[in-house]
Amino acid sequence: MQATAIAHPNIAFVKYWGKRNIDRNVPAAGSVSMTLDGLETRTSVEFSEALAADSLQLDGEPVGSGETLQRVESFLDLVRRRAGIERAAQVETRNNFPTAGGLASSASGFAALARAATEAAGVDLNERELSALARRGSGSAARSVFGGFVRMEVGEEGEGAAGFQIAEADYWDLRCLIAETAEGPKRVGSTEGMLHTERTSPYYDAWIDSVGPDVDDAVSAIRDRNFGALAEVAERSCLRMHAAAMGSDPGLLYWNGTTVELIHRVRAAREGGVDAFFSIDAGPHVKIFCEPSDEADTVSLVEGVDGVNDVRVVGPGDGARLVE
Ligand code: PMV
Repeated sequence: MQATAIAHPNIAFVKYWGKRNIDRNVPAAGSVSMTLDGLETRTSVEFSEALAADSLQLDGEPVGSGETLQRVESFLDLVRRRAGIERAAQVETRNNFPTAGGLASSASGFAALARAATEAAGVDLNERELSALARRGSGSAARSVFGGFVRMEVGEEGEGAAGFQIAEADYWDLRCLIAETAEGPKRVGSTEGMLHTERTSPYYDAWIDSVGPDVDDAVSAIRDRNFGALAEVAERSCLRMHAAAMGSDPGLLYWNGTTVELIHRVRAAREGGVDAFFSIDAGPHVKIFCEPSDEADTVSLVEGVDGVNDVRVVGPGDGARLVE
């Protein structure tokens, strides 16, 4: 009863920021993303009668208590219930990028855990069911189950909310430059941030209403490989998500000075003919998308900028898969 899986993070072009149902972790609206190559989470799960309790090792360190362990245990409970087993599990997970720093480690983490834990427990799910299960761990993880370009669908009831692949990774060779502008974990986690925005931001409802049309626009832009159209909708969605969060009380501001500097640089470069657009999640890092022909110009946009600690360029990646 042992399995290992790999999954990659994803970056949303149309952002998910709000929950319809907290207990079942159903998003309030859809979203659209690209799964990333290069960054990966590798997770091994073993269920065994010899274990007294669940254990978790993250990047080589035992995690003895706290929210991360609780989230993993609750997720394992869902898998155990489906498998009809009671055995405890030993989970070992490793990221080749900073964990919980706003680089979407919960997306790849729960996608890999869903894939490995269901295999180890002998639960047979199709991709959509696996995606709906991964969603229970983290909303964005539902999208990382699939490779390439992915849409999150919420549906009428929301119970089965899951990802849906728009196109495979090789459909469109987009590049994503990730500029890390800070170290350490993010200050306000995404769940807390979403709930705070819903409770206190007067812009929350307007934000949620704007997501549906943006999802349609992003799906069309991807199908047509229309970079300009994708740039428009992605920057709009990112800024509206952050505007809703900033409008909370007290306001949530995930950006630092470098984040703002890079936004201006991307926009100025676009006016100068470089096809690039930015995206920012619940942290200060900036992701800049471009096509391969603009990669060198895009890299030079962030080089030498004060506060940029690390830069990497990745392409579209595959979905969550078993490796052992
Ligand atoms: O799935 P979570 O709880 O990590 O939330 C993801 C939230 C954002 O990254 C900010 C947006 C998104 O759609 O990925």
